[in-house]
Amino acid sequence: MSAPITTSSTLSPDDIHWIPSSIVERMNFGNIFRSQGPVTVDYGCGEGAFVLSMAKRYPAHNFLATERLALRVEKVCKAAARMGLTNLRVLRLENLYVARFILPLAAVSTSYVSFPDPWPKRAHQSRRLVQPEFLTAVRETLLPGGELRLKTDDLPYFRWMEKVIAESEGWDQTSWPEEPELPLTNFEARFIAQGLPIHRTMLVKR
Ligand SMILES: C[S@@+](CC[C@H](N)C(=O)[O-])C[C@H]1O[C@@H](n2cnc3c(N)ncnc32)[C@H](O)[C@@H]1O
Repeated sequence: MSAPITTSSTLSPDDIHWIPSSIVERMNFGNIFRSQGPVTVDYGCGEGAFVLSMAKRYPAHNFLATERLALRVEKVCKAAARMGLTNLRVLRLENLYVARFILPLAAVSTSYVSFPDPWPKRAHQSRRLVQPEFLTAVRETLLPGGELRLKTDDLPYFRWMEKVIAESEGWDQTSWPEEPELPLTNFEARFIAQGLPIHRTMLVKR
């Protein structure tokens, strides 16, 4: 069971903050988005600059953003409501759990993981988001030909990602070309202002 779609033309921050009615059943996009359209997932959206801009730019597409911090979720939902967006929902839930248990199978067009927490200490590396089980779970949510786009400023984490990707089956890895028209994430804007290089890669589900 999922919460019903709100039918008024605009959405409040509470409508945009999507709380699943069940956390043991996979969601149905038809129950939360008003129109059928390709779905993009932004895992760990932070303050949401990227997903808000994307949702505004592509009104015929749907966007689901995940974020574990309540204040960030609230901020993104308020901004989306102010912007009049009806094609974005924000889910306050843990990324791996969302991919593994909440998203529908073979239904997502594109997923973004932008600047995930790097957990630089060796003892903390098991907390990194990009792990074999995360890639497997994300792959199952993607349509054939669907993409997982990853970027980070942290070179050791990027090397880690490359290793995890090499061991993960069912993908074609390709370089993620520069897309100057793509909106920046909040962290990306800061890193670019500091002159830091951004490392990016893209996986396409076979
Ligand atoms: C370094 S920030 C990057 C935010 C955004 N993607 C950007 O590029 O500006 C990482 C974000 O992921 C969120 N996060 C970290 N671990 C998470 C998890 N397991 N599930 C959901 N969100 C998570 C953090 O709260 C934070 O907002």
